[in-house]
Amino acid sequence: MSNTIIVGAQWGDEGKGKVVDFLTNSADVVIRAQGGNNAGHTVICDGKKYILHLLPSGILWPGKTCVIGNGVALDPIGLVSEIETLERQGITVRSEQLLISDRAHLTLPYHRELDGLREHSRGDQKIGTTRRGIGPTYADKAHRTGFRMADTLDTAWFVPALHQRIAESNEILAAAGMPLVDPAVVETVLAALTRLRPHVTNTMAFLHEAIAEGSTLLFEGAQGTFLDIDHGTYPFVTSSNTTAGGACTGSGVPPNRIDRVIAVAKAYTTRVGTGPFPTENEDLGDHFHAMGREFGATTGRERRCGWLDLVLLRHAAMINGVDALAVTNLDGLDQIDPVRICAHYELDGKRVELPPATIAELERAVPVYETLPGWNTDISSCRSWEELPEAARRYITRIEALLRVPVSLVSVGADRNQTILRDPRWNTLEVPSIRVRPEERPALA
Ligand code: GDP
Ligand code: IMO
Ligand code: MG
Repeated sequence: MSNTIIVGAQWGDEGKGKVVDFLTNSADVVIRAQGGNNAGHTVICDGKKYILHLLPSGILWPGKTCVIGNGVALDPIGLVSEIETLERQGITVRSEQLLISDRAHLTLPYHRELDGLREHSRGDQKIGTTRRGIGPTYADKAHRTGFRMADTLDTAWFVPALHQRIAESNEILAAAGMPLVDPAVVETVLAALTRLRPHVTNTMAFLHEAIAEGSTLLFEGAQGTFLDIDHGTYPFVTSSNTTAGGACTGSGVPPNRIDRVIAVAKAYTTRVGTGPFPTENEDLGDHFHAMGREFGATTGRERRCGWLDLVLLRHAAMINGVDALAVTNLDGLDQIDPVRICAHYELDGKRVELPPATIAELERAVPVYETLPGWNTDISSCRSWEELPEAARRYITRIEALLRVPVSLVSVGADRNQTILRDPRWNTLEVPSIRVRPEERPALA
């Protein structure tokens, strides 16, 4: 009977899927409220690996309801293929188990092509998008030219309107010499929409009823704070609000129904795509890639890697109202000695504790590190705080001290069971909010 938002605190791929899956045990409803199938959330349980793009990670738990909210950019063809993949893996998705908002905007085949075109035309300034059509879908929403799930029910209106949009997009694509969208794809879109129809409903009404009945809601953020269209490293961001507020606008659940926010952060930092990354470190990247780690779940691209950046996390803690942090991939640092934490930046001779606004400043920012001893031990079989080596515990408590945010969960492996709850009360999602008051935060320079 309490509602929790999970957000990514970095540039995505923090391990949100794993944390949401772990916490779903204590929830009744799991909700995606923004982003689309640019997301790739990996969940490993009983040795089986699932990669979820549009489906909330709660889908792996029978008896839980999953909601795709109004704020999601929904690719119907992609979603049907994702459901089919899951079904081949032995997970059935029944109509009462997955509810899709009738207000969700559709990502259609021309959005993907236009995404490709916009990237192409940016040349070496390209964002490195996932090419899933996310930017063009949200642009159409803002232009008020998008199609929402409910609009497609009136096929006499929708089919000609869709043909019209394909023709308009093809004119733009043809002028740029890019491949065109085959109008025959309309049939595939309609087949996917028909397949999804039993799931489509007024999810806002459902969520409010669920709250009234005392259900526990878990909001699964996609992407991360620094990919947020407002708060991220603009323009090297995605096109939705990935921060805590996005969970409310993207679901119709108001802020006063939210009880807590948990941010997920890796024990180091990664980023896919282009854009500034002050603590980037190629040696760390080579180390992780040689271990077969840090390849994108959606595109397979190598993730750029670097040290943990508390300037970013401090900002994430503020704007998301973070009550607690879940730190994942601590085992990734097992063989790194010493380990480093960026506590602040030096920018043009000044100490900076929060990220500057411009890309140029972020590129000039020099990270200032604290160096801590490594633990040189395989921690992947640790299952309690006490079992962790002292140096690993010190790394976590140093993060807490610098951020003034408690680390409630530590993940030491990709599997559901490789999870350490610092405070077992978080397992029930019932703890009262332990929100950090602004006056308890560190002084800002
Ligand atoms: P998400 O997008 O935030 O859900 O994260 P991704 O699934 O894209 O990327 C996180 C990666 O880290 C995935 O491959 C997970 O299986 C993996 N992972 C999550 N937590 C841990 C952990 O504690 N240790 C290890 N070794 N892998 C983890
Ligand atoms: P999850 O939910 C990491 C990045 C892309 C690119 C930028 C814009 O798995 O954490 P887009 O396709 O959204 O227009 O791309 O955002 N990006 C992600 N990076 N994890 C994600 O999702 C991402 N979704 C988008 O690489 O830099
Ligand atoms: Mg991911």
